[in-house]
Amino acid sequence: MRQRVLVASNRGPVSFSLGADGTLAGRRGGGGLIAGMTSGLAAVAAQAEVTWICAALSDGDRIAARSPRAASADGGDPGEVRVRMLDIPPETFDRAYNQVANSILWFTHHLLFDTPNQPRFGREFRLDWEAYLAYNQEFADALAHEAAAGPPGRIRVLVQDYHLSLVPRLLREKLDGGGGDLGIAHFSHTPWAPADYYRLLPRQVGQALLDGILAADHVGFHARCWADAFLDCCEAILGAQVSRAGNGDAAGRVSHRGHVTGVAVHPLGVDVPALRARAQADDVRAHVGALRRAAGGKKLIVRIDRTELSKNIVRGLAAYRELLATRPQWHGQVVHLAFAYPSRSALPQYRAYTDQMALIAQQITEEFRTPDWNPLVLEVKDDYPRSLAACALADVLLVNPIRDGMNLVAQEGPVLSERGCALILSREAGAAATLGDDALLINPYDVSETAEAMHQALAMPDAERRRRSAALAATAAAWPPARWLGDQLASLDG
Ligand code: F6P
Repeated sequence: MRQRVLVASNRGPVSFSLGADGTLAGRRGGGGLIAGMTSGLAAVAAQAEVTWICAALSDGDRIAARSPRAASADGGDPGEVRVRMLDIPPETFDRAYNQVANSILWFTHHLLFDTPNQPRFGREFRLDWEAYLAYNQEFADALAHEAAAGPPGRIRVLVQDYHLSLVPRLLREKLDGGGGDLGIAHFSHTPWAPADYYRLLPRQVGQALLDGILAADHVGFHARCWADAFLDCCEAILGAQVSRAGNGDAAGRVSHRGHVTGVAVHPLGVDVPALRARAQADDVRAHVGALRRAAGGKKLIVRIDRTELSKNIVRGLAAYRELLATRPQWHGQVVHLAFAYPSRSALPQYRAYTDQMALIAQQITEEFRTPDWNPLVLEVKDDYPRSLAACALADVLLVNPIRDGMNLVAQEGPVLSERGCALILSREAGAAATLGDDALLINPYDVSETAEAMHQALAMPDAERRRRSAALAATAAAWPPARWLGDQLASLDG
C-alpha cells in the first residue's frame, strides 16, 4: 500500500490568477518553504500519496478552492501532489495571517519590534487571536477529514511554520481516540525567539503556541540555535521537562502533558541539478547577457530578497554607501544590484520599509553617480529568471539578514555562480551554521563591518574566491530537499 503524506502550510505550491476571459491561470508559489517542500516531495511522490492543504490567498485561489479539480489539474507543476485550498473567510484570514502570524509571530521570532511602541496587546489583539485559532482549526479540520477519507494505514502529517502552531494540538483533539495511525511533524522555517523576547507575548498566547507545537511527535528547525531557543522556551514558559542532546541532528526531547516530542535540526540546502538546469533556460540566459552588457566589466555586488524588514536591505545599502565613501578606489569599478520582490504589502511597516529602501538608494545614486557610472540598481519586482542571472554573474553576494531561519539565496548564489562569488553572510542566518567557514561573516547591525567585508570580498584574489565559492556550493548540495524531507519522515517512523 502507498504511504500517505499530508502537508499543511499557509502558502501553497500553486497560486491562481483570474484572466480577463475568466479562466484561471496557475503559477508556482514562491519562497523557501515552497521550493524545499515541492522539491522534497518530488523525491517521495513515487512511494507516497501526497495531499497538500493550504489557504486560498488570492481571489483566483478562492475560485479554485470552490472547484477542487481546478486546484489540482491546472496547478502549475505540483507533480503527484493533490492540492486542497481552504477558502477561509477573508476577515478571519486577514486577522490570522496579517495580524497574528506576520505582525506578531514573525516579528517575535525575528526580533523586529520597536519595543517602546510595539507590540501592544489590547482588545483588538484578542479578536485577532480568536481568528488565528479559527484559522488553525480550519486546517486541523481539513487534515482530519483527509486522514479519515483515505484507506487505513500510517499517515504522516507535515505542518509548516508559525502560521499553524496550534494545528498539531487541534488535530490530536479532533482525532482523540480515533483517526488511525498518525505521525505529526511541525517544522519552523523561521528562527525561534530567545525566551526573554518570547515573553513579550501574552502569557496564555505564548503557552498555547508551544503547547500546540508540542502535540507533534517531531519538531524541526533549520539550525541548532533555533532548536535550542525553542527548548529554552519550553522550559521557561511552559515548565516542560526538557532533555538536551549533544551535537548532531537531534537537539533534544520535551515531555509535556504525557507526550514526548523529539526536537531536531534539518538544514535545507539546494537541489543543485534542478537549479542549474533552470539557470540554462533561455529566459535566464537572456538576462545574463543583458546584465553582463549593463555591467560593462565592472564588479557586481548582488543581493536578492523579498522586501522584508528582517532581510536588512536598508543597512545593506547604508554599508554600500559607506564603502563608496571610505574606499574611493572602487568608484567606477563596482555596481550594486539590489533586486527585491514585493512582499506583505498589506502591512504598513512593509510599505514604509520599501519607501526607506528607495530613499537611501536615491541618495546613493545622487551622491556618487557620474556620467559613465551608475553605482546602484535597486529594483522592486518579481523576476525569478533575472534573479538567477544576477546570481550567475555576482562577484560578491550580500546576505545580511537581522535573523533568518536558513536563507536559500546564500546557497543558491554559489551554486549558480559562473566565476565564483564571495559570500558576505550574516552570522544571524541559519545558513551561517553550515556555510560559515567559507563565507565572510558579519554582524548584521554593524554597517561599518559590512562595508569592510564588501571591500575584502571585492579585493579577494580570484583563486580564493573560486575556492570558497566551490566549497559553499558543495555544502549547499550536501543538504538537498529530498534529504531535508526524508529525514523528517524517517524521524516520524523512528
Ligand atoms: O520563512 C518562512 C516563509 O514561509 C518562507 O518560506 C518564505 O520565504 C516566506 O516565509 C514567505 O512569506 P509569505 O508567505 O508571507 O509571503
